[in-house]
This record gives sequence, C-alpha cells and structure tokens, in this order.
Amino acid sequence: MTFPIVRHRRLRQSAGIRGMVRETVLTVDDFVQPIFVTYGNGVKSEISSMPGVYHFSLDRLQEEVKEIVGLGIPAVLLFGIPEQKDSIGTSAFVDNGIVQEATRLIKSWYPELLVIADTCLCEFTDHGHCGMVHTFERDGHVCGDVLNDESLELLVKTAVSQAQAGADIIAPSNMMDGFVQAIRSGLDEAGFNHVPIMSYSVKYASAFYGPFREAADSAPQFGDRKTYQMDPGNAREALREAETDVLEGADMLMVKPALAYMDVIRMLRDQFDQPIVAYNVSGEYSMVKAAARQGWISERAIVNEMLLGMKRAGADIIITYFAKDMAGWLREGK
Ligand code: PBG
Repeated sequence: MTFPIVRHRRLRQSAGIRGMVRETVLTVDDFVQPIFVTYGNGVKSEISSMPGVYHFSLDRLQEEVKEIVGLGIPAVLLFGIPEQKDSIGTSAFVDNGIVQEATRLIKSWYPELLVIADTCLCEFTDHGHCGMVHTFERDGHVCGDVLNDESLELLVKTAVSQAQAGADIIAPSNMMDGFVQAIRSGLDEAGFNHVPIMSYSVKYASAFYGPFREAADSAPQFGDRKTYQMDPGNAREALREAETDVLEGADMLMVKPALAYMDVIRMLRDQFDQPIVAYNVSGEYSMVKAAARQGWISERAIVNEMLLGMKRAGADIIITYFAKDMAGWLREGK
C-alpha cells in the first residue's frame, strides 16, 4: 500500500495554522466607500436597486462620513446628482457644484479622510453621455456621436475645479482618448501637480452599471457607451489602454467592473507596477443583496470571498459599496 507523502491537509487542520499560512488578507486600508450626494434638505433616501446605499443631501452628509471615518476606512469616492443638467454638463465644473461643495465640507470636517472625485460628465449632461455629443436623426431616431477632443476641455475644467475644492485624488471615468494627459497637464498648470490621477483605465461597456445609473440618474438618453467604453470580449486591448494611461501620467490603474474581469486585474498586476484598483460595481453589489435577502446565500461570507478574490487577483485597492459592512466585519472578527 502506498500512502501520500505530500499531505496538503497538514496546513489546514486548525484555524491557527490556516491563519498563519493564509496568503491574502483583507484590511480596512484596502477599501474606498462611494457616496452619492444630492441637493435638498434632510435627504437620506435609499436607492431602491441598491439596498443600504443612500442619496445624502449636504446637511445629512456628516453623519455618513462620521461613520466611515469611525470604521477606519481611508477614502471615499464622490458622485453628485446636480440640480440642473445641460448639454455640456456645466454643473460638473462650476465652483459651487454639488461634488465641489461636498468635498469642501468633508475636508473641513475630516482633513485626513481622502476624497476621491469621479471626473465624468454623464451625471451632469441632459443626454447622459460622458462627453459632449453631436446629435442627428437617423430613421426617425435621435443618434449622436461623442466628441472626444472637445470633451477633454470640459473634463479638465471638472478635474481642476474638484482639485480646487480640495479633492485629494482625481478619478477620471469618462473613457475619452487622451483624458489622462489632458487632465494631468490641466492640473499641473493650475498648480495641482501633487494631486494623483486614479485612472479608470480599463472600463468595460457593462450591464453591471445598471443600478448605478438609477442611483446617479445617468443612463444615456439615446445610444449606448460602446464607442468609448471597452468591449467585454477584449483583454489584450486592456493592456493597451493601461499602457497609454501610464505613458500619459496615470498614478493608479483601475479595472471596472471587477467580478467578471478578474483575469484583467491579474494581467494588469503582472504587467505594471502602478497600484491596481478594482471597482466592485453597483450590479455586483445588488446581485449579492438580492440573493441574500432571499436567504439564498450568506452575505457576509460571500462578500468576504468576493473581495478577497479581487485582492488575490492583484488589486491593491477595492472600491466597494460593501466597504462599511466589510470594515465592521473585520473589526468583529478580531
Ligand atoms: C461614470 C461612472 C459610472 C460608474 C462609475 N462612474 C457609470 C457608467 O459608466 O455608466 C459605475 C459605477 C457602478 O456601477 O457602481 N461614468
């Protein structure tokens, strides 16, 4: 009779030994909590497709931010729902825009908390696209092309106004060609050469953004985002996108969504030395919430495993709507 000499189970026999040999662990420093800010007074309203995630008006924002800081989460990512929308997304770059105001408040309350500003126009344009568009009619339908180079100027204005308001990190998510270079030079010229760019380098045209578009009221009014966001079938193209961003001065590289693109996270990790960011997006959040509410899965265990997978795949930073929950669970676990 031959017995196995190599017994992998030796290192699995107790919680103590499993803990000692565990290769990847999550810590609260890994997480970024997104926040949706809106106009109005006394608003804390739950986003119906994202249970546990709320719109906050500025006068209710401090309670949320206080909780985030109390949990030890190092950063928030701000999204704003403006009062007015127009064709060029003016509310994205005005000095008293909703994101700018929220940034000023947060930095005055908690200077140590990092504020990351999402730099895009889709929440601020009446057509819901991430840049300026040229519209025309075809077969009785409104169509449009996004104007790449014309949009860059507006995105630079947006990034500069966010930095002026005190944003610590600029996170452009618009997927126009040349956006990192344009924003880098715009920030430098305005005196913000110390502000890092967290580029949404590899952002897919994904159905996983569905709940977010409800939350941010940013669904495109015609067409889709497939001419600027990436095709889900492509991975090699992701390397070209990331390489361009690195050459243009990106300090961190993001892959979005995360769950269905773990291979891409790993490819970027292996190819680049910049910090890699995974965005655990709204649809990934809502799927877990829905199944957990039905009692079909165990939320805490699933979230832990999912986020651990993203880190194991190579992410240094994870943007997730579960950040607060996860931070609380990590504390309890200690
Ligand atoms: C803005 C933006 C989007 C998300 C983050 N920034 C929406 C989109 O591209 O349609 C999605 C985030 C999420 O789904 O959680 N362009």
